[in-house]
Amino acid sequence: MDITILYGTETGNAEMLSEDIQSHLEGDHSVELSNLSDFDPGSFDKNRFYIVVCSTYGDGELPASAQPFAEAMEAAKPDLAGIHFAIFGMGDMEYEETFNNGSKRMEDLLTAHGAKKVGERITHDASSSDLAEDLAMDWADARVAEAAGLVEA
Ligand SMILES: Cc1cc2nc3c(=O)[nH]c(=O)nc-3n(C[C@H](O)[C@H](O)[C@H](O)COP(=O)(O)O)c2cc1C
Repeated sequence: MDITILYGTETGNAEMLSEDIQSHLEGDHSVELSNLSDFDPGSFDKNRFYIVVCSTYGDGELPASAQPFAEAMEAAKPDLAGIHFAIFGMGDMEYEETFNNGSKRMEDLLTAHGAKKVGERITHDASSSDLAEDLAMDWADARVAEAAGLVEA
């Protein structure tokens, strides 16, 4: 399957995890990686599956690298019907009231424009003993398997 991993990050955790997911999937799939700040909302492609990795910053805000993308989405209002994505959120329960709000905002932004979420959003907690990379690989494998029947080849 052709896969694009898009990451929204402030201090690099989502980028590092995205690189790990790319390495994990690459043997069986063709996987591109892009910072959301470099991704044009007009370039979504129905023939690809999108894996979005997004952290939360400030007071439940999108991280810096996702903000230009969100603004470009609001401006361009692309029709994302037929686009499938899965989303992995990175946050910290130290920020209990806004835990993983950034990934929720990103999910809402994509679905509001017609994209379909595959599986449930997973939310990593940096205060927990779980390492994000320990959760992400099985999660990614399961989402890619689900997407196989959905994404146009
Ligand atoms: C200043 C600051 C604000 C943060 N705000 C939130 C927040 O509101 N909600 C949350 O779940 N995590 C919050 N976090 C935790 C980050 O999302 C978490 O550390 C994540 O792994 C960072 O990923 P990144 O390096 O890709 O941006 C915050 C972290 C910092 C340093």
